[in-house]
Amino acid sequence: MAREILPAKSLLAPKPTSQNESVFSAPSVQRRSFLKGLGVVGTALSAGSLLSPMAEAQERNDVITVGDVAILRFLAAAEILETDLWQQYNELGGIQDSEVPGGSGSKLYTAGLEILDEDMPQYIHDNTEDELTHEVFINAYLVSQGAKPVSLEQFRNLPSSQATGAQQIGRLTNLMQLSVDTTWYTRYRSRTGNPDLGDTFMQAVPSIAMGQHPAIPRTDDDVQPDPSKAHHISDLTQAIANTAGFHFATIEQGGTSLYAMLAQRVTSLEVLRIVLSIGGTEICHFQTWSDKAGNAPPLSVVDPVTGLTVTFPDLNAPPLGGEDFQTNLIMPEPTAFLSRKLPACSIIRPTATKGAAMGAVRALTADGLFIGQSKEFFKFMKTLATEADLAVRQ
Ligand SMILES: [Fe+2]
Ligand SMILES: [Fe+2]
Repeated sequence: MAREILPAKSLLAPKPTSQNESVFSAPSVQRRSFLKGLGVVGTALSAGSLLSPMAEAQERNDVITVGDVAILRFLAAAEILETDLWQQYNELGGIQDSEVPGGSGSKLYTAGLEILDEDMPQYIHDNTEDELTHEVFINAYLVSQGAKPVSLEQFRNLPSSQATGAQQIGRLTNLMQLSVDTTWYTRYRSRTGNPDLGDTFMQAVPSIAMGQHPAIPRTDDDVQPDPSKAHHISDLTQAIANTAGFHFATIEQGGTSLYAMLAQRVTSLEVLRIVLSIGGTEICHFQTWSDKAGNAPPLSVVDPVTGLTVTFPDLNAPPLGGEDFQTNLIMPEPTAFLSRKLPACSIIRPTATKGAAMGAVRALTADGLFIGQSKEFFKFMKTLATEADLAVRQ
């Protein structure tokens, strides 16, 4: 069967009713409807009746629906945003090279990150490169299917850090006024709680979850040497590096959930393969950052710019600490999944699919990542999210 190409113009707010989407996957819809009428959904098909499983599999490979395109377009935008923020981290705290060009590094900020793990610059570089390839691949795939790629270039208006080492270019994201949600730290260590079952989780670092905090140096004032400290890293610089260390995991656990949530509403097997394969990388990232954040040294410092006290607690002491919260529990603890009647299971969470894309936009907005962005930016992102959340698996 010839691949059905989706015209780009059809992407504007089509309602994914079976009538609309049947333009792209009519045989599948018809077969399902017919089976439903017979009351045999879920039973095996007899050979020769209707479509064979092989034929259905082929059909799912050959069809890309309006919903699939909407999901990929939202993910392309999310990846562009991820690339933008990771690029800012790499310019100041990663490895600037031909794979991830731009910036020249901030020595003391990088040293602060290396307190969490000496390989932090390499990991930051690799995470940045990965996001860039996600963005480029998804957009290229959209084009290969006759669909419109996503660009956020018109929204690249936020300022760069003024610290030495950062490029002076327009940004999409703001890493200097973050409210970092650190509940992933306790959520992934909980043996009973699951956000999909209505549970909520305490902040591991309450002080960076409230107020606005830099995760990169704003100016060179944030990276002045303090000869009284080890490696001359001031408490302010270390607090900024610690904030980054938690924000890395906050971003990547979000990507981890987002891909798993949206995968459930993909129709094309090839698009499902893309979503699962890229989503798996987000999980790799989260796992790495989950390990590093636990190494953030305890400290308390007043940020002279905001006047706020930033406190990183001893993560091995109450109210955390104990067996369930020890910092080396970096793999997802088994917890309730689907139903509390079923046995506990080690899973990523949350993964409920309803409203996934809009939930991601809301979470990133709540973290302060878009402070300073225009109304048009939010409208564009919300439109992409709405379209993705209307996608229905056919
Ligand atoms: Fe990504
Ligand atoms: Fe990511």
